[in-house]
Amino acid sequence: MPISSRSTPIAGRCFGLAYLHVMDGLAFGFHDLGEPMTLREFRAVFRGPLMGNCGYTGDTAESRLAAGEADLIAFGRPFISNPDLVERFTHDWPLEPEADQSDWYMPNGPAGYTDFSAYESATVA
Ligand SMILES: Cc1cc2nc3c(=O)[nH]c(=O)nc-3n(C[C@H](O)[C@H](O)[C@H](O)COP(=O)(O)O)c2cc1C
Repeated sequence: MPISSRSTPIAGRCFGLAYLHVMDGLAFGFHDLGEPMTLREFRAVFRGPLMGNCGYTGDTAESRLAAGEADLIAFGRPFISNPDLVERFTHDWPLEPEADQSDWYMPNGPAGYTDFSAYESATVA
């Protein structure tokens, strides 16, 4: 389906939304059943705040924002192993590796959701 055919109904249905959250990164859970729309295409038809998501890093998020393709970028999985993700981005502190999927939904014995440390508490012993 051409982009124009896909985007016109979206424009008509988006009035009144506080924001539009688009998983444009396709790094997680994409069904692979069709051509995905991009943030740029949504930007052309939706006038409200536009949020990108999925597989972003601090750098890729900054570049999307700088290009004006999104107003904000949301993060999911990086928050699991980096509970202080915002501070880490702010201070350019290193990120922990992505949490193992077995730790995504609930504690897995002593290792799990709650034992990932903030950067400062991990370095100040
Ligand atoms: C453990 C886990 C639980 C999630 N639960 C929800 C949910 O309840 N509702 C939802 O819309 N998205 C949920 N998501 C999807 C995230 O909000 C986000 O869209 C996805 O993780 C992609 O962003 P990321 O690449 O930054 O992780 C969940 C993701 C994870 C890893």
